[in-house]
Amino acid sequence: MTQEKTEQDQTRFPVPQTLAQSARCNADDYQRLYRASIDDPDGFWREQGQRLQWETPYTQVKNTCFDGDVSIKWFEDGTLNASVNCIDRHLPEKANDIALIWEGDNPAYHHAITYGQLHDHVCRFANVLKNMGVKKGDRVTIYMPMIPETAYAMLACARIGAVHSVVFAGFSAEALANRIKDCDSQWAITADEGVRAGKSIPLKNNLDEAARSCPGLKAVLAVRHTGATVSWVDGRDYWYHEAALKVDSRCEPVVMNAEDPLFILYTSGSTGKPKGVLHTTGGYLLWASITHDYVFDYQPGEIYWCAADVGWVTGHSYIIYGPLANGATSLMFEGVPTWPDVDRFWQIINKHKVNIFYTAPTALRALMREGDAPVERHDLSSLRILGSVGEPINPEAWLWYHRVVGKGRCPIVDTWWQTETGGMMITPLPGATDLKPGSATRPFFGVKPALVDAEGQIIEGAGAGNLVITDSWPGQARTLYGDHERFIQTYFSAYPGTYFTGDGCKRDADGYYWITGRVDDVINVSGHRMGTAEVESALVAHHLVAEAAVVGFPHDVKGQGIYCYVTLNAGLEPTEDLARELRQWVRKDIGPIATPDHIHFTPSLPKTRSGKIMRRILRKIAENDFSNLGDTSTLADPSVVDSLIEGRQIR
Ligand code: WTA
Repeated sequence: MTQEKTEQDQTRFPVPQTLAQSARCNADDYQRLYRASIDDPDGFWREQGQRLQWETPYTQVKNTCFDGDVSIKWFEDGTLNASVNCIDRHLPEKANDIALIWEGDNPAYHHAITYGQLHDHVCRFANVLKNMGVKKGDRVTIYMPMIPETAYAMLACARIGAVHSVVFAGFSAEALANRIKDCDSQWAITADEGVRAGKSIPLKNNLDEAARSCPGLKAVLAVRHTGATVSWVDGRDYWYHEAALKVDSRCEPVVMNAEDPLFILYTSGSTGKPKGVLHTTGGYLLWASITHDYVFDYQPGEIYWCAADVGWVTGHSYIIYGPLANGATSLMFEGVPTWPDVDRFWQIINKHKVNIFYTAPTALRALMREGDAPVERHDLSSLRILGSVGEPINPEAWLWYHRVVGKGRCPIVDTWWQTETGGMMITPLPGATDLKPGSATRPFFGVKPALVDAEGQIIEGAGAGNLVITDSWPGQARTLYGDHERFIQTYFSAYPGTYFTGDGCKRDADGYYWITGRVDDVINVSGHRMGTAEVESALVAHHLVAEAAVVGFPHDVKGQGIYCYVTLNAGLEPTEDLARELRQWVRKDIGPIATPDHIHFTPSLPKTRSGKIMRRILRKIAENDFSNLGDTSTLADPSVVDSLIEGRQIR
């Protein structure tokens, strides 16, 4: 790929000639299809909905309203089953094709699962769940490592109409318990242990600890993975490998309405407890499938690897549902990029001849620091398309990814989307979109982005503002589990009639979108979304802490780090030991991903006279930017600012 300078002096990488000819969608196709999707959403999605296999064909397509009570329905009279779409319908032609390649944390372990085998595993798993008493509509919590059984568990739920709620295996017992209780889940699936970078994670024991505060939990199914000895509650706990011997490898799928829930996935918001984002069956699956197909230009037989964890939405849509709905081969990796060595990713790409690789900027930045040599030790010539997700990718990391990993040949699809959007929203298509490093480029079919200013006025042409989406798309979340009011409040009240993303964004003169990051109190640490309110409530739960305010600050590798201002109870002196203890405390309460980078003890926090903490000032100080603190005259005690700056400078 050659690079050109545009008018705005942004480096531009045109679509490689060969891809423009061979890809599923070139620039003209994109224009035509995008236009059609906006001019006639009903007609466009009526046709695209045919990608899925329906039990009862839909006659209704779009029935959505962003005003008032907010109601989002797609294909509402159609029926289907997601596991049938991901497995059974491929069997006539692809029973012997590989559905999943599993690569263990230990490089000596890997195996492949064909679509035929996937069918048997999922059916057995589904029968085991049925025997335990799980029924259509029940919530099933899945707290699992990155092993094939996790995919079986999710698809088994889909097969019998149960609603899975996958909780990332890095979350603590406490965080897990909150999620089990919030959706009133009576069933949980876990493994004895997870393994990452050679270390075990005591999943079953964590679950047992969580269960102590979840009286509603009726039964636990445990997959034996490492063989470790684990705690056990007779009558409540079952080993999967024992239960699986007693069931059949066929299981009739339950016919689901397009709008029946498929899963709940908890994500962080700017306030309060995590939100149970709810996705339904038809629209979500269509969205995961069509975006996976077009954005990665997936060709039959290709090896596709999304290096995310299934505990996040990226894993749901682009390890499991999207690729499997498309009959693709999806690689699932248990480990981490830097173990046993910093070339682990590149070794895997070479070992399995990966064609399409999708990862997060934080991983790229960490690997980039190791230099080019670890990449160059491996033959990466199988690579065709590279992808990025989770946070803004800085141009430096983009260019390294392009030059060193992709050898200048592979387009990078920088895909902007969210747990709530179900799948990619603003993204290049490899055969259609010229690339600019750091820009997620253009909207996918059916997506109508707009920028709004603080007054809610739509900004036309080039400019910057808050990113909203002005009309519904099939993959959109339908509600927050058990709290539709909060759904309306969070996403549809800031700019009535539109979906508010929580992200800031610029649009350049070519109509390219550049996501600038969250504009609310959500921070993005190593591509993981975290509410500052969650970390604050963990801190204030400590008996020595009077008050806490948490903000993000720029971090070279993680994108953002966690900066905590802490006020201790009267009379207490801050110590290094206490800072360490608080870090551990948060880690234990939420999980390792929430470990604070800085604890900044302060006798008081900057507050307005009405008692509101001025986070703007705290953010600036955490960023080491003391020049532009804005108006501090409304503070109850302006001298707090000087002492905070002093405190920051000795760090
Ligand atoms: C951020 C992850 C810039 C954004 C799929 C969004 C991005 C949040 C990008 C959602 C990108 C995701 N460029 N920012 N390509 N992709 N984000 O729900 O702030 O875990 O709102 O979904 O990640 O995070 P979530």
